Amino acid sequence: MSTKPLTDSPAWKALQSHHSEVAGLHLRELFAADPGRGDNLTAEACGIFLDYSKNRVTDKTLELLLRLAEERGLRERIDAMFRGDKINITENRAVLHTALRAPRGQKIVVDGEDVVPAVHEVLDKMASFADRIRSGQWLGHTGKKIRNVINIGIGGSDLGPVMAYEALKFYSDRALRFEFVSNVDSDDFAEAVHGLDPAETLFVISSKTFTTLETMTNAHTAREWVLRGLGGDESAIAKHFVAVSTNAEKVREFGIDTANMFGFWDWVGGRYSMDSAIGLSTMVAVGPANFRALLDGFREMDEHFRTAPFGQNLPVIMGLLAVWYGDFFDAQTVAVLPYEQYLKRFPAYLQQLTMESNGKSITLDGQHVDYNTGAIYWGEPGTNGQHSFYQLIHQGTHLIPCDFIGFAKTLNPIGRHHDILMANMFAQAEALAFGKTAEEVRAEGTREDLVPHRVFEGNRPSNTILAEVVDPKTLGKLVALYEHSVFTQGAIWNINPFDQWGVELGKVLAQRIIPELESREVPTLNHDSSTNALITRYRRMNQ
Ligand code: F6P
Repeated sequence: MSTKPLTDSPAWKALQSHHSEVAGLHLRELFAADPGRGDNLTAEACGIFLDYSKNRVTDKTLELLLRLAEERGLRERIDAMFRGDKINITENRAVLHTALRAPRGQKIVVDGEDVVPAVHEVLDKMASFADRIRSGQWLGHTGKKIRNVINIGIGGSDLGPVMAYEALKFYSDRALRFEFVSNVDSDDFAEAVHGLDPAETLFVISSKTFTTLETMTNAHTAREWVLRGLGGDESAIAKHFVAVSTNAEKVREFGIDTANMFGFWDWVGGRYSMDSAIGLSTMVAVGPANFRALLDGFREMDEHFRTAPFGQNLPVIMGLLAVWYGDFFDAQTVAVLPYEQYLKRFPAYLQQLTMESNGKSITLDGQHVDYNTGAIYWGEPGTNGQHSFYQLIHQGTHLIPCDFIGFAKTLNPIGRHHDILMANMFAQAEALAFGKTAEEVRAEGTREDLVPHRVFEGNRPSNTILAEVVDPKTLGKLVALYEHSVFTQGAIWNINPFDQWGVELGKVLAQRIIPELESREVPTLNHDSSTNALITRYRRMNQ
């Protein structure tokens, strides 16, 4: 593995001078020069097809990016992660979300202990719990069946579960209602429980640490809501609350019997935890068999990432392209555009995965980077985005690489919807890449003064990801694809994608401000003049 700073590495320098040669090339020219480009610049693995031909790359670019991956020791880093080395160096932890989907019998050792048996023990416990809820065997305190399952969690303890629930809704038990409460804003809790009967409601308190302010505040409110609704009998808690956490002591302190706790481990990062016990609500929704299929999908992509040559490796290709745009074209953002309504929360899920992972500016050696790291990820499902922000992607001044995600089949074949949907996806990628020249606009008889307004420059890059249908296995593959793309980017940038110190400062300051807002006495404020004035005004307006 190279110890040279990234910008001194030979492949990086070669990419810099190569960029000045190719940056001016148009995708129109690249496609004209190689009639086979649309077939050649593609890769396929475990049922996921990636067309990356509409990227501003030549064969030389790809060769240099692959060389960069080799030079930066990506292979060794992948091996280290899968082996369970403590690659999260700032927290001295292994990074083993891949162990969550390891088959029974595989051995992965952390601190002298094989972790795979414990993973399957928890999965089995989750399955038996999910079956009891789904079959109506688990009864609430008053003997009623559970009809509502409310996950309380935030960040990785919310976004994965809610994204997976929405993505797999088609496979979910429609007799059960699922809600997800994350925000400390009481509106979130109030709306989730609106009209629900506490006697039929089960709360899954999901928190890796079991100390997160938002989650604990919501959990206590839920506790009061249940007790109020069920006559104040504390013994009701056992029937209406389960916990998912790594912190048994805090779970016990909250009053949840640890027999109703589903554990995981410090080597699972929050944003990498949707396939751990954090996926309990997902498993209750879709059933244990579908959850296991989800894990199978993750595992297939893991194996592909671990073993495929980089030139055919989907996450590596996507990761390297992200580096290419972020560092050489100075692209600030990536749009993720799923043409699949079930994936409506996928962009939000990816925001935490990508931005909490690679939103770093200090290298593993403690140096400030002198290159761009993680981009801003955002997006909406197609075709809604087309009628909103696509204007800027087509004709604005920013270069925004796009990931289009589509499926060959729909789960709800109704009339012409699916072909219309997919035609739009293909059309958008085509329009972005090739645009429309002034000559073409004129040839349509457009008034001369309107011509510049109606020109599409094109040369806007995109990936197209195509799979057969949204099912649990495919979802697992898709999430793992992005997890490993994020890993690839982090390895190139020599940063730690697995800590999140950047969320700490705001949390600490909020703890200082809470009593200042709550105090009956006028507090002495020692913030900056803006924060002082805002607190004072809030207190006045809140009276
Ligand atoms: O936002 C910071 C963070 O620590 C995330 O990484 C994590 O997913 C989230 O808070 C929730 O943490 P916990 O699961 O411990 O409540």
